[in-house]
Amino acid sequence: MSRDKTLIVANWKMNLNVGEASLYLHQLAKLVKSHRDVEVVLAPTALALQSLSLQVNSRQFKLAAQNFYWRDHGPYTGEISATQLRGIVQYALVGHSERRHVFHDSDKDIRAKVQAAIRNHIIPILCIGETASEHADGETRDVVHDQLVGGLANVTSEELEHVVIAYEPVWAISAGDGRGRADKPEDVTAVIRVIRNQIKHLYGPKAAESIQVLYGASVNPDNAAAFLAIPEVDGLLVGGASLNAHDFNEIIKKAHKGSGVAKV
Ligand code: PGA
Repeated sequence: MSRDKTLIVANWKMNLNVGEASLYLHQLAKLVKSHRDVEVVLAPTALALQSLSLQVNSRQFKLAAQNFYWRDHGPYTGEISATQLRGIVQYALVGHSERRHVFHDSDKDIRAKVQAAIRNHIIPILCIGETASEHADGETRDVVHDQLVGGLANVTSEELEHVVIAYEPVWAISAGDGRGRADKPEDVTAVIRVIRNQIKHLYGPKAAESIQVLYGASVNPDNAAAFLAIPEVDGLLVGGASLNAHDFNEIIKKAHKGSGVAKV
């Protein structure tokens, strides 16, 4: 992975059925102009991945899994493995806050999923971030540290080149649904510096400089430029606003270097 490309990831969560996902992709494909400096990734429901992989122009969009189980195969009723996703998706979210907090994915599960993705040539997007109470108690730095150390425990320097980190403060997710409240770019900058510093401790300065770090939580067409303007931010993970093709395209447009969004 290189930081030359800005990554814009749509996390559709448990929205859009297979038919709706296909229609959406059709609509989005007509709107989005491809640029070499922007990579657009779509994470639909697992049900739609196979059909969208046949429909998608892979030069225009990449696909991501929202979740998977860390074993490659076996008696794990109801689960999908990274081995089964291989060849269909290029990326996979790992440790998204809803997986951690609603489905109780542990640090051990998340570490195993990062490993499984890497083993299957899928780029894990390791999501980290503090909850509202951790934020209020001033524990952000410790949480980010623990989630990074936990998630990357078995990852080598070479493997780290194929890992993306996404900082998503849990308390700021879903402001569009009236649940979270959007974070301020200056606070995001500080936390992403903590993340790069931690990577520096674990893997050295070169890795800290080259790892791709995304921001996500209530990103919309109005605030996307401010987050993208942060020098430490290499892309966005977008939930609610990615469900509207026009809004999502507005966000993608801001990621293109010629769009007028300058790094500060
Ligand atoms: P949101 O979701 O953009 O709706 O806040 C982001 C996420 O959970 O990835």
